[in-house]
Amino acid sequence: MNNQLNHIAIIMDGNGRWAKKQDQKRTFGHFHGAENVRNVAIAAQELGIKVLTLFAFSTENWKRPLEEIDYLMKLPAYFFDKFMKELMERQIKIEFIGHFSRLPQGTQKVLKRAMEQSKNNTAMKLVFAMDYGGRDELVEGFKRYAQDVVDGRENNITEDEVENYLMTTGLGDVDLLIRTSMEYRISNFLLWQIAYAELLFVEKPWPKFTPEDLKLCIDEYHQRQRRFGGLG
Ligand code: FPP
Repeated sequence: MNNQLNHIAIIMDGNGRWAKKQDQKRTFGHFHGAENVRNVAIAAQELGIKVLTLFAFSTENWKRPLEEIDYLMKLPAYFFDKFMKELMERQIKIEFIGHFSRLPQGTQKVLKRAMEQSKNNTAMKLVFAMDYGGRDELVEGFKRYAQDVVDGRENNITEDEVENYLMTTGLGDVDLLIRTSMEYRISNFLLWQIAYAELLFVEKPWPKFTPEDLKLCIDEYHQRQRRFGGLG
């Protein structure tokens, strides 16, 4: 049994529905969702989590109305303006997974600055997945691997080495995957990395998911027995 909890990944779902319920625009939900990223990230760091990976924008989210896409792409600027100082004080390191070069220039700039500024922080990695898709990540990895084979650098990959071809190199497998808002799907998030993750589906929409809820999820995780295919 291995109940160590290093890496939590969250599918932050339900912003839009939460906003609509209050007769607000979907972007109102995303705004509160971004505010909540701060609360949950800080709680995770205080609880000793090493990596927190958040699904902030998927490769499929480009199909949304332009206004919503534009809003989501501008959220990192708001978020880091408001919270970077605090994240730095807490030694939180900002990382990114996804198709960086496809993001708008302004978003790239803001993310680059946050990553550069926090690169020596050691407490917890806070990873934003933007323009990220698990299948897309695998395709990109296959291409790089094929090139390495052609160039004679590789010819006999092992399971452990696959990580070197993923966007999450160095982050390790996900131990616990949480999805808010009661949808029972993985939605193309971290497909390779969740192979043995414990899955938790939470009723609350993301803007209402509190540090206390995170703590309950962690308690639930510790009550589960992870056997990794063995007999425990
Ligand atoms: C899915 O829920 C959520 C998203 C596509 C966006 C999530 C983004 C954030 C919470 C903010 C990220 C913060 C930063 C700083 C980048 P939905 O709103 O589509 O939910 P619905 O199913 O209710 O429509």
